[in-house]
Amino acid sequence: MRRQAATLSSTIERNGFRWLDTIAEPMQAAVHRVFRSGSTGRRAKDWLNGVPMRHRVHPALIIWPLGAWTTAALLDWLDSRTEDTRGDYQRGADAAVAFGILGALPAAAAGLADWVDTYDHHRRIGMMHALVNTAALGLYLGSLGLRLADKRAAARALGLLGYGVVLFGGALGGELVFTLGVNVPFLLYPKPPNRYVDVLASGDLPEGRPVMIEVERIPVLLLRQRGNLIAVQAWCPHAGGPLIEGFLGGMTIRCPWHDSRFALEDGHPLQGPASVPLRTFEVREEAGRIAVRPSYEGQTWPPPPAPPQSEPVWMPTDHIAAQGASDYA
Ligand code: FES
Repeated sequence: MRRQAATLSSTIERNGFRWLDTIAEPMQAAVHRVFRSGSTGRRAKDWLNGVPMRHRVHPALIIWPLGAWTTAALLDWLDSRTEDTRGDYQRGADAAVAFGILGALPAAAAGLADWVDTYDHHRRIGMMHALVNTAALGLYLGSLGLRLADKRAAARALGLLGYGVVLFGGALGGELVFTLGVNVPFLLYPKPPNRYVDVLASGDLPEGRPVMIEVERIPVLLLRQRGNLIAVQAWCPHAGGPLIEGFLGGMTIRCPWHDSRFALEDGHPLQGPASVPLRTFEVREEAGRIAVRPSYEGQTWPPPPAPPQSEPVWMPTDHIAAQGASDYA
């Protein structure tokens, strides 16, 4: 293997887009200041992250501008091809452009709340995604202005350009999630066994002092707190922060990396950026021993990977030849 196959984001990175950091760093600091300026800022960020819904908001909100602008593109095309004497297509297209501009604002706010907790190349690609979408918004604002001035052909051209730009912005957003895994619940580990697994002697778990155990390769945080026995996944679902280094506060735990906070009784997120619950485990204490097993929801983890082959599997050489031997060089 000579080198890594390129993706959209790696191509952007390779072509020298580090200058984006000079915009991203001060912007991230400023946005953090706003969201951390008090309980209102914090609550607004939680809603924008989707903490109360336990689901990200940004992917749902982008449907609003994208749907409206797709409608506008279709109506503009129909307007350009037909004798629309009553102006129905034009009025519909203008309304769709304006409606999309309106929807772009909450979608951008939710995106900003998700982006502010990213770093390194995730932050860079996110910055690019934001700049491209801002350019698309500018083009649609220009198109709306031309529509109001009844300069139809130019308004349609600018709208079409905006549509192309926003589709590229969407591709960058998809790259962030599906290729780079930003804000995908962090699930590095295989499905835990669906049975009680003996993990610890009761005497090794003092009140209020969490310990990390492994349930067949899965790190689990075990805690005796206020008379309850609690076991949850030991890493933060936002980006894998180590909860054992986090901050306990009564029946809550706060991630040391970006401050997500979770309720320990059922794992639900209390504060973002994490928007999905911690996986929880049932705990049994009998005869001086502690055993855990996944709670019902924990059983819905992805299935374990297929067991490794005991023998290497060789591909027939004629198949390699058909694929092009140089690909395998
Ligand atoms: S890893 Fe980001 S809040 Fe925990």
